[in-house]
Amino acid sequence: MKLISAVVQPSALDPVKNALDEVGVTGMTIVDAKGRGAQSGKVEVYRSQRVKVDFLPKILIEIVVTDEKLDTALGAIEEAARTGAIGDGKIWVTDVLQVIRVRTGEKGPEAVQ
Ligand SMILES: Nc1ncnc2c1ncn2[C@@H]1O[C@H](COP(=O)(O)OP(=O)(O)OP(=O)(O)O)[C@@H](O)[C@H]1O
Ligand SMILES: [Mg+2]
Repeated sequence: MKLISAVVQPSALDPVKNALDEVGVTGMTIVDAKGRGAQSGKVEVYRSQRVKVDFLPKILIEIVVTDEKLDTALGAIEEAARTGAIGDGKIWVTDVLQVIRVRTGEKGPEAVQ
């Protein structure tokens, strides 16, 4: 089991959700986030003042998937979130030791989806 953490533009949330739906991945957690990447935020003009924005609004999507679903899910997220512009986002993957569905007590891969 793997945890996919995807930080994407807020506008990419619906496309990513729909793309994951299409490959049978429904469970996810969404967190409103702020972040900075290689550009360290960016300088924007606001009321004719140059304003340094340190952190830009992003959405963090956390999805636990089985190992079999990992590559499919990653492909779906990547394709749905890509516009080609700076700040499209970043995705990383970590190992998950255990998942428990509270209602049934199921554990492991059976508890994921
Ligand atoms: N090394 C990192 N660790 C944790 N979060 C990161 C890291 N890099 C980027 N992020 C998160 O991902 C968001 C999107 O990053 P972003 O798409 O700007 O990546 P980038 O590497 O700067 O690529 P690009 O050049 O396309 O902008 C950031 O706002 C931040 O929340
Ligand atoms: Mg960036």
